Amino acid sequence: MKIDILTIFPELFASFIDNGIVFRAREKKLLEINLHNIRSFTTDKHHQVDDYPFGGGAGMVMKPEPLYEAITSVLGEDKAPVVYFTPQGRLLNQDIISRYKDKERIIFLCGHYKEIDQRIRDMLVTDEISIGDYVLSGGEVPAMVMIDAVSRLIDGVIGDIESAMTDSHQRGLLGTPHYTRPAKFMDREVPDVLISGNHAEIDKWRQMKARELTMTRRPDLYYGKS
Ligand code: ADE
Repeated sequence: MKIDILTIFPELFASFIDNGIVFRAREKKLLEINLHNIRSFTTDKHHQVDDYPFGGGAGMVMKPEPLYEAITSVLGEDKAPVVYFTPQGRLLNQDIISRYKDKERIIFLCGHYKEIDQRIRDMLVTDEISIGDYVLSGGEVPAMVMIDAVSRLIDGVIGDIESAMTDSHQRGLLGTPHYTRPAKFMDREVPDVLISGNHAEIDKWRQMKARELTMTRRPDLYYGKS
C-alpha cells in the first residue's frame, strides 16, 4: 500500500512513521508513506495556504489552488481514494478501516483552520472521515489514527493475524481482560480459568467477559447486533 499525506505540518509525522507497527510495515515493504507539504504547492511569495471566508465569520479557510495542485500532481493518472479528515465526515470505525486494508494507494488530506474550500471537497475528495464527535486543530492526528489502524490489518504486517482479528471491535464486541505474569500481584490473582489449561473453558470465559463489557460500556454496539 502506498499512502500520500498532504499536510502543512509534515514534521509531525516524523517519529510516527519511524516507530512501531507503521515502521515495521514500511521496513517489510508492505507500506510506503510519502509526505507532501501543501505549502510547497503555493505560487505566491508568502506561500499562503489560507484566506478569509466569503460571507464573513470567524476562522480562515484553506485556499483551493494549492490543494488542487497538491492533490492532482500527487495523484497523477492514478485512481485512488482521496480522504479528507473533518468533524463533518463519516464516523470512523473498524468496518470502515477494514475497507481500506487492500487498497493499493490512498491520499490523505489534512485540513487546518476552519475547513478547506468546498470546491475541493466537491471536485477531488472522495471520502470524508471524522474520528469522533470533537473538534481537533487539524487532520494530522486523524490521519495517524487511520494509518495505524489500517496498517496493522495489511496482510503480513502483524505476525499473528489472529491477534488482530480477535481485538476489540473486530467482531463487533469489545475485547476481553488480559493478564500476564506474575499470577499474583499485590494480593490480586489471575482468574483460575486462565491457568486451568482448558481452552474450551477459556474461550467461553473470554466470550462472556467481552459480552458483559460491551453490554455495559457500549450498549449501542451490543444491541445494534443480534
Ligand atoms: N479535524 C478536526 N476535527 C476532526 C475530527 N474530529 N475528525 C477528523 N478530522 C478532524
